[in-house]
Amino acid sequence: MSGLLERVLLIGGSGQLGREVVAAFPSESVTAPSHADLDIERPDAILFTLTRLRPTLVVNCAAYHHLDRCEAYPERAFAVNTLAVDRLAAACALLGAAFATFSTDYVFDGTSSTPYREDDRPNPLNAHGVSKLAGEQLVRRHGNRHFIVRTSGVFGHTVSSVKGYTFVDRVLRQAEAGEPVRVVDDVTFSPSYAPHVATALRDLVEREAYGTYHVSNAGEVTWFAFACEAFALRGLDVRPTPVASAIFNRGARRPRYSPLALEGIARAGLPPMPPWREGLAEYIRTRSTGE
Ligand SMILES: NC(=O)c1ccc[n+]([C@@H]2O[C@H](COP(=O)([O-])OP(=O)(O)OC[C@H]3O[C@@H](n4cnc5c(N)ncnc54)[C@H](OP(=O)(O)O)[C@@H]3O)[C@@H](O)[C@H]2O)c1
Repeated sequence: MSGLLERVLLIGGSGQLGREVVAAFPSESVTAPSHADLDIERPDAILFTLTRLRPTLVVNCAAYHHLDRCEAYPERAFAVNTLAVDRLAAACALLGAAFATFSTDYVFDGTSSTPYREDDRPNPLNAHGVSKLAGEQLVRRHGNRHFIVRTSGVFGHTVSSVKGYTFVDRVLRQAEAGEPVRVVDDVTFSPSYAPHVATALRDLVEREAYGTYHVSNAGEVTWFAFACEAFALRGLDVRPTPVASAIFNRGARRPRYSPLALEGIARAGLPPMPPWREGLAEYIRTRSTGE
């Protein structure tokens, strides 16, 4: 086991990804304070907690990522996604801990016609993306012992506290209730099953393969086709109505095409990420049986 896994401080452990990171990491080594116990917007709380716990690794799964709220209140986005991340990275560097944090496909503008590679030029379209990119950049100034993991379209069993729902669960519930389902068909992305992302992070940490990585399930799909596949896997004979993204987008601009190329993790020697259909099938199977 890598020495990095000796004492892990996990922030945002109640969130979609955070819960799966808790599950993927060795249970005896993880401390995961609640938001109330450690608010990363408070610099004193960060230093107090890190000094007390002396973690070997800090994993930050906290974020302010409701796109339209970030657009309306950029100061909130920057407080959590940028300044707090910078302070966490600084505290880690000061106390000798490695630092892992999550970023997003929304650092890209969606004008590419092929999946985005780690070294493609970011050009965020919205305040959320700008705040996450700035967070990344500030982390890098504190040295090299970091993992910046860009992921996208996360789905899993935990409901995001910010959004209050997950896309797959919402459309499945609508379909199961016989309600009409409308899904955008002009946005393409790489879905990410949270347990698969958590496993990849653990693998990177075990290898101490510091750097910036794209981590999603393999492959790309539109939200419409993703919903259709979810219904098929659930055995529902439902066809959603395809709609243009402009109908739903109220505040923030979103990239129309943001699949991630998974070159970095291949170079780091990680096993290939499972295709998104595999992640979706596992989600539906465990959701249906309540495992
Ligand atoms: N979800 C996606 O589709 C997606 C896509 C791309 C990238 N990402 C990135 O992946 C990471 C994890 O996202 P997620 O979907 O798992 O988020 P999430 O479900 O919304 O969870 C966020 C977690 O952060 C905690 N938190 C928020 N503000 C905090 C603060 N100031 N101090 C301490 N804890 C705080 C929340 O606690 P409370 O609930 O108690 O406030 C919650 O545990 C984020 O960096 C996000 O930007 C997510």
